[in-house]
Amino acid sequence: MTDYTALCREAAALIAGVDHPVANLANLSALIWQTLDRINWVGFYLLEGDRLVLGPFQGKPACIEIPLGRGVCGTAAAQGRTLVVRDVHDFPGHIACDCASRSEIVIPIRRAGRVTAVLDIDSPETGRFDDSDREGLEKLVQVIGTEPGVFPMEE
Ligand code: SME
Repeated sequence: MTDYTALCREAAALIAGVDHPVANLANLSALIWQTLDRINWVGFYLLEGDRLVLGPFQGKPACIEIPLGRGVCGTAAAQGRTLVVRDVHDFPGHIACDCASRSEIVIPIRRAGRVTAVLDIDSPETGRFDDSDREGLEKLVQVIGTEPGVFPMEE
């Protein structure tokens, strides 16, 4: 089981005082990649108008643009809520970037109350993500959304 309290603490320390959004998101994706087991992709999609655009990530190259409301990422961003998908084959409109992916969790990231990005994590294992992952990752994105150096492009 992942120690999300430690992960949140490490994430905050990693980005504290760093005013470079790409560097921060790159380091955060690497930290999550190193910390969570049984995952094959982790990264950020950034909201630009009515689409999500690929941001820093770890894993195989992924699709660059996702319209708001499409796929797991676009649906989570449009609805402003975390989606835990036990089996991606059962999610209508799921966008397959790595055919090894079996389950997925997408957490919207808010800055000043507005969804500004999503954190997307895929696993090759069906049902990899449970309530403890959702709770832990929702705490993590609060840290990410609150630190000033991560999404200054929104201001
Ligand atoms: N599966 C996602 C697309 C992004 S990749 O998993 C990296 C989706 O359906 O939105």
